[in-house]
Amino acid sequence: MRAKMNGKAMGMVGLGVMGRNLALNMEEKGFSIAAYDAWPDPVDRFVREAEGKNVAGFKDAASFVAALERPRRIVMLVKAGDVVDKTIAALRPHLEAGDVLVDAGNEHFSNTERRAKELSATGIVYFGMGVSGGEEGARHGPSMMPGGAPEGYARLKDVLEAVAAKDPDGGACVTHCGPGGAGHYVKMVHNGIEYGDMQLIAEAYDVLRTLGGLSNAELADVFSEWNAGELESFLIQITSEIFRKKDPDGKGDLLDQILDATAMKGTGKWTVQDAADVGAPIPTIATSVDARMISFAKSARVQLSKLLPGPTPSVNAVDKRQLIADVRAALYSAKTCSYAQGLHLLRLAGEARSWGFDLGELARIWQAGCIIRARFLRRIKAAYTTDPKLVHLLADASFREELASRQEGWRKVVAMCAERGLPLLTMSASLGYYDMVRRERLPANLTQAQRDFFGAHTYKRIDREGDFHTDWSA
Ligand code: 6PG
Repeated sequence: MRAKMNGKAMGMVGLGVMGRNLALNMEEKGFSIAAYDAWPDPVDRFVREAEGKNVAGFKDAASFVAALERPRRIVMLVKAGDVVDKTIAALRPHLEAGDVLVDAGNEHFSNTERRAKELSATGIVYFGMGVSGGEEGARHGPSMMPGGAPEGYARLKDVLEAVAAKDPDGGACVTHCGPGGAGHYVKMVHNGIEYGDMQLIAEAYDVLRTLGGLSNAELADVFSEWNAGELESFLIQITSEIFRKKDPDGKGDLLDQILDATAMKGTGKWTVQDAADVGAPIPTIATSVDARMISFAKSARVQLSKLLPGPTPSVNAVDKRQLIADVRAALYSAKTCSYAQGLHLLRLAGEARSWGFDLGELARIWQAGCIIRARFLRRIKAAYTTDPKLVHLLADASFREELASRQEGWRKVVAMCAERGLPLLTMSASLGYYDMVRRERLPANLTQAQRDFFGAHTYKRIDREGDFHTDWSA
């Protein structure tokens, strides 16, 4: 506890639902709150909502900053991009060296790096922090991914640990991810993994309903059962609830009334963009972004559906029980490959940017509070605890065994869907990835020959060192 308590312990800027909920969570844990928004209405609303609590609302930046205990600790939860720059500009004249300013929105890590650099000359410590778990998480325990200078983390640790979700061993789901934009980077990859999980689940749903003929009620039961086993996760759990929800307009199941066009705010796209820059293959995540884009172009699909030949997938005389078991195996295996890709991206990006990620620790803080929380993250954490230098998650003995026992089902599902015209873009991308990384010799020799043929890009040989060029048409 701090000796001097002259002002409010924490400042919250941006009183949208995430800001309000995180502020209420902090207050509940014993941190008094000064709250500010550039617009007056959200301030009034928050003050009303927080009546009787240790909270004060402010409509101008100067009096907000003046109300805070020094050195100050301020969390911003405003829209990423320009609004963050504007908010910093509004606060900055009132801040002083030693104050810590945290951007807890879904900001691109490069903006966070830039702002941290810009502010470092002033002595203001800038943090970028991913917060996952939506409104519920913010209010009752999110998973948080802060990044910035270590002295800043020392100042934030007490409040962040108090408000974070707790992992199954009672640890707070927050850790100092690294310097600069490391925290926002980790959140970005978390979201890329989230996209992959969601698309894999959507594909599992498609196989079971379209080829297996399962009703929404049956799907709800299947997903509930899966949620009691190795697939246990927030996303599987909410999926079983979605299958049960009725349309408020009385048109049967709500799910069947929803337009099949996935929107996105862009964090998954950023993951794919940066993975390409870093040189990290993430086909599961990349195809999940592609799948969102293909789905979103609904009118083009409606036109093409009338033009392009191919089998029309329909309910087939399949053994339902076996199909459910195979899809379960396929989903788990594809998910494992997706996490292996995401973690590999974190390893490569962390090395390239000297962020020093502790992959086991990141798996630990994702065990509760966040959207990708899942039972199997405990096993990922264990894999990195056993071998902190593990080059690849799939190299871990227990994951290898699991994939060995499940791959027959996974292959059956992918092959059957290819034959019947049911698209499994992401599930098959995971399988392709798995088969590529375990293949000693790939057809890349031919690609290298082509590059050398038309562009004199040279190639390496398998029998001796050096770079070679051939006059291929001679
Ligand atoms: C979280 C979520 C959250 C949000 C994403 C969704 O971890 O709590 O990831 O950040 O739901 O922004 O992104 P899309 O709109 O791109 O699906």
